[in-house]
Amino acid sequence: MAAVPVAVAALLVAAGPAAAGTVGSSGAGDAYFPLSGNGGYDVRHYDLTLGYDPQSRHLDGKAVITARATQRLTRFDLDLKGLKVTGVTVDHAKASYRRDGQELVVTPRHSLRRNQEFRVTVTYSGTPKPATDPDGSPDGWIPTDDGAFVAGEPQGAMTWFPANSHPKDKASYDFTLTVPKGHTAVANGILRGQSTSHGHTTFRWRQSEPMAAYLATATVGKFKVEQYTTRDGLKVYNAVDPREATAAAPVLKKLPSVLAWESGVFGPYPFRAAGAIVDRAPQVGYALETQTRPVYDSAPDLSTLVHESAHQWFGDSVSLTAWKDIWLNEGFATYAEWLYAEQHGGKTAQQTFDSLYASPAGSGLWAFPPADPGSGAHIFDTPVYARGAMALQKLRTAVGDGVFFRILRTWATEHRGGHGTTAQFVSLSERLSGKDLGALFHTWIGTAGKPTSP
Ligand code: ARG
Ligand code: ZN
Repeated sequence: MAAVPVAVAALLVAAGPAAAGTVGSSGAGDAYFPLSGNGGYDVRHYDLTLGYDPQSRHLDGKAVITARATQRLTRFDLDLKGLKVTGVTVDHAKASYRRDGQELVVTPRHSLRRNQEFRVTVTYSGTPKPATDPDGSPDGWIPTDDGAFVAGEPQGAMTWFPANSHPKDKASYDFTLTVPKGHTAVANGILRGQSTSHGHTTFRWRQSEPMAAYLATATVGKFKVEQYTTRDGLKVYNAVDPREATAAAPVLKKLPSVLAWESGVFGPYPFRAAGAIVDRAPQVGYALETQTRPVYDSAPDLSTLVHESAHQWFGDSVSLTAWKDIWLNEGFATYAEWLYAEQHGGKTAQQTFDSLYASPAGSGLWAFPPADPGSGAHIFDTPVYARGAMALQKLRTAVGDGVFFRILRTWATEHRGGHGTTAQFVSLSERLSGKDLGALFHTWIGTAGKPTSP
């Protein structure tokens, strides 16, 4: 090539099609959270080693991420917000990296072939800061008076580990969590070991079934721990803030029967572990269905326990491919609450539907269609939960109980450990009922405003 001024050559490289074709994109293509997740690879496993000091709020982290390239890659991103990165290697070779907002941009020494499996190691440290969701609530690593409440929906995973933070990319996890003696660190899945030395305790957790990054937790606090195995062989681990213990006990005692009831309705429980983390965190204002072991910011009521448990099927095992479809999580978990009440001496689901339908046309309930909240700011609003559940009640009355419950079970079974979309749910409902349900779904999940008839 003839002499080209350096600046122009750089421009050519940056804009050249060859370069663009080998750079992993900075987002997974989600309309509501364009920078969540990344393109060009698929994570198989996260191995997270974390040390946390509740007093200084300092976190030391090492993430070893095993992934497979889905295209040739000269560069790719991970999501990470805040914290200081101290080193990145790809397959043991030092990689160069830079920070760009929530993107950790990694350039491996050697480019990666399509389908190549590779291992990224990121070491980092600092004081994790919670993210603020578009709806104003805190999310991610949320410090408490004795540790941290860790809940990452929708965007909080990146506040404490480098992740491909979109539910499209699910992976297995190992956690090695070290905290000062007297504190407990609780993650997802099975507790594989616990040991104390030099004033610190290390907890090793394994989540072997695939999990979306937002469902990971590593909650730290001073907890009362309870462990047992249910009659169905489920390993239960509950960690409860002593200040919430009295209020939580009667509800937590029902966890095995709630899971057994839900298994009867939705099909087999999708994981080997279960439990609850009850951690007083007044600033949080919500519970989250962290996989196998939901986190509650205070002692939950029974309805909330039923809700977060139902998410283990709907949201955790069967995951979203786009945040726009959030009603597949929240509408279903809310409907589980209605069904539980109906089958345990409370209101019928139809009665709950009827009292909601009585809401005036100007009510927030009708503000937008559940299947399109419009933006990330509205994914946890009433239409997603209540009107989403109303849509399921409409489906139930249209197809009859037998077919309806077969639809729910088939949905959980056919998509177990994977993903589902609204379009797939609609077509499953039509396939199993033999009915054209286009108008019903259009009215109840696809159109804003109060439907003209209940
Ligand atoms: N998925 C949670 C539930 O069970 C709600 C999470 C709300 N998160 C938030 N950042 N506002 O309903
Ligand atoms: Zn929910």
